[in-house]
Amino acid sequence: MNLNPLYVALDTPDLERAVTLARSLSTAVGGIKLGLEFLSAHGPEGLRRLIDEGLPVFADVKFHDIPNTVAGAARALSGLGVGIFNVHASGGLAMMRAAKEATLTARTPAKVLAVTVLTSLGPEDLARVGQGRRVEEQVVRLALLAREAGLDGVVCSPREIGAVRQACGPDFLIVTPGIRPKGAELGDQVRVMTPFEAVQAGADILVVGRPLTAAKDPAAAARALLLEIGGGSSA
Ligand code: C5P
Repeated sequence: MNLNPLYVALDTPDLERAVTLARSLSTAVGGIKLGLEFLSAHGPEGLRRLIDEGLPVFADVKFHDIPNTVAGAARALSGLGVGIFNVHASGGLAMMRAAKEATLTARTPAKVLAVTVLTSLGPEDLARVGQGRRVEEQVVRLALLAREAGLDGVVCSPREIGAVRQACGPDFLIVTPGIRPKGAELGDQVRVMTPFEAVQAGADILVVGRPLTAAKDPAAAARALLLEIGGGSSA
């Protein structure tokens, strides 16, 4: 892998803290992930501030609406210079196609990823919303639909990397949260993998939040994570 696969999740409503963290990690990570917490607090202005720091930005917006509305939102994000954003695969083929097509007018079209099944949903939750299939089966089904729609890849839990890679082939981007260096605090993450295991399983981008943002020296923590990936020292 040539590009730095580490994206730091800046999960904070504090704009100055996000900018400070981005600066301190600017040479140690491959990109920044901004989620709904940050985006709802700071909107496009906040997004621009972070994009101006120079690292690729992944806007974790998880759009899910009618195709026309999602296309408009996708065009706006792409125009801001976002590098990656995502939509819910359960919004359907036409919605995903519309999202991807809307990015193509931007100077550098954003990559569009699909969220398959939220990892907060277990089998019983899925059954209650009418999805009786096994979680992995549903994830693969939605990943294949995303590929058919022309999306660039999916976000999935470490547990599903192998099945998605096998079903969708080598060129489909797999982005994975739930990464913890060996021996680290799990926080609220349950289904975790070490960075080495996730890359071995086929992940292209690892989204890591607290192990970097809560570290005394975030850049040193990021470099240690990269070493784990390269040398397999955590395996
Ligand atoms: O701090 P931590 O490394 O757990 O952060 C992981 C990031 O990935 C957070 O921004 C979280 O919202 C996101 N994420 C996740 N699990 C998912 C989808 C997204 O942890 N299934």
